[in-house]
Amino acid sequence: MTDDNKPPAQLSEDKDASLLDMDAEEFRHYGHEVVDWIADYLTNTERYPVLSQARPGQIKEALPESAPRKGESMEDILADLDRVIVPGVTHWNHPAFFAYIANSSSAPSILGEMFSAAFNVNAMLWRTSPSATELEEVTLRWLRQMLGLPESFSGVIYDTASISTLCAIAAARQAVSGLRVREDGLAGTPETDDKPARRKKEIFLRLYASAHTHSSIEKAAITLGLGQSGVRLIPADAEFRMDSSALAKAIEEDRARGYTPFCVVATVGTTSTGSIDPVPQIADLCEREGLWLHVDAAYGGSAAVVPEMKWVLEGCERADSVVVNPHKWLFVSVDLSTLFCRRMDVLIEAFSLVPEYLRTGDPEEVKNFMDYGPQLGRRIRAIKFWFVLRYFGVEGIAARIRNHLEMAREFAAWIDRSTDFERLAPVTFAIICFRAIPAALSEDRLDSLNERIMEEVNRRGKIFISHTKLDGKFTLRLVVGNIRTTRDHLCLAWDELNGALARLLDGSRPEAMCQ
Ligand SMILES: Cc1ncc(COP(=O)(O)O)c(C=O)c1O
Repeated sequence: MTDDNKPPAQLSEDKDASLLDMDAEEFRHYGHEVVDWIADYLTNTERYPVLSQARPGQIKEALPESAPRKGESMEDILADLDRVIVPGVTHWNHPAFFAYIANSSSAPSILGEMFSAAFNVNAMLWRTSPSATELEEVTLRWLRQMLGLPESFSGVIYDTASISTLCAIAAARQAVSGLRVREDGLAGTPETDDKPARRKKEIFLRLYASAHTHSSIEKAAITLGLGQSGVRLIPADAEFRMDSSALAKAIEEDRARGYTPFCVVATVGTTSTGSIDPVPQIADLCEREGLWLHVDAAYGGSAAVVPEMKWVLEGCERADSVVVNPHKWLFVSVDLSTLFCRRMDVLIEAFSLVPEYLRTGDPEEVKNFMDYGPQLGRRIRAIKFWFVLRYFGVEGIAARIRNHLEMAREFAAWIDRSTDFERLAPVTFAIICFRAIPAALSEDRLDSLNERIMEEVNRRGKIFISHTKLDGKFTLRLVVGNIRTTRDHLCLAWDELNGALARLLDGSRPEAMCQ
């Protein structure tokens, strides 16, 4: 640090005597330093291994057993951030992060987050920060329009897609007539008189989702007391989409056996492959059967911002609820998830409970978002989303997602042209599922080879990929989703994969395809 850049002298010494917050000058000084740090980090993320190479316990061992008795200097705290914390970070914001569902914390989103922390509002009621509530309504309206969902949907922002789905399923259960879950508890067994001991009829609710559904659906069922046996997983077709005739048959069978079907969860963009369940057919069935249709478009929904990808949400206008997760593919920092619902009154009925100390005389038309879910306190998440939507604009966001789709298709074409690799699923969005199939190896050795390829490239730290199992085969997954990813990073991934394969087989390196 140069002399000009010295921390303000006064507070470094005085701060233990103060009963107030950090002095504004010190905050300004370190604020600038932190923003400089972040700007350098975002420019040079590639200097770090994508997947943290920390060993278990490394971070804990490097930090003291107990909190410091006296306050420490920001200099020391920032030095430890570099020394201890950064080595234990897996860099999701690295342009060669291709694992899971790759995401981005874009620079405008990071700036928005700073205001969220600075305002520190608790947006439980409209009056506890009208800007938080109304900005949430505005950004939700903008997103709804961008996705092409009709005005009959209104929205709410939660932290994650998992919680959005949990709330949607709670609303679906609330909509079952004759149940008194709110009043009487988990199973909501209808009573024929006032005495629980004389309950006459038990109800076994059933929820349906494809075998490729995200684990958050079963977790929601566990949390809501439906249990895993309350979820029936429907087989998928050869392209990993829910088989809607198997769904119809399952519902019929369950009704005959005395179950009460109440909800179907369809997915637009499954986690493993990005497949899309046949939402229009499922919507027909749900309408016929009187079931709540929830669509998990947490990943794939964002693609509908791209005009030529609007079709991915076909049929979703008939769903009761749809989750789209801007912290996956809309360049918004974790966490921010949106739930759109056509029956908000039912969601509110499931959750609203207003104690005396939170009653207000505010007019009816204001929204109190505490009524839309289990949590009371909620931060102003919409502000980072607002920054992102305004900074990039609808076209800028669409162009970036389109670019990811194109890069994914090009990578898939390299796989298709290679004799050493094969693709294991269609590429609908920006997820490519593939595996190495060198001629020298028999099928029974391919799982372990591919697992070793994944471990080898991840250990080297230049790229990070993850895996799934498709039709029993160990499958490598590469997901393009970070805002800083370019074609060069895809070339690097291709090179790393081919290099790992050659080393593991002790063979020669195939020619690069991406020049
Ligand atoms: C299809 C799908 N749904 C839900 C989720 C859960 O998302 P979250 O981490 O926001 O709960 C994921 C996460 O990858 C997903 O891929």
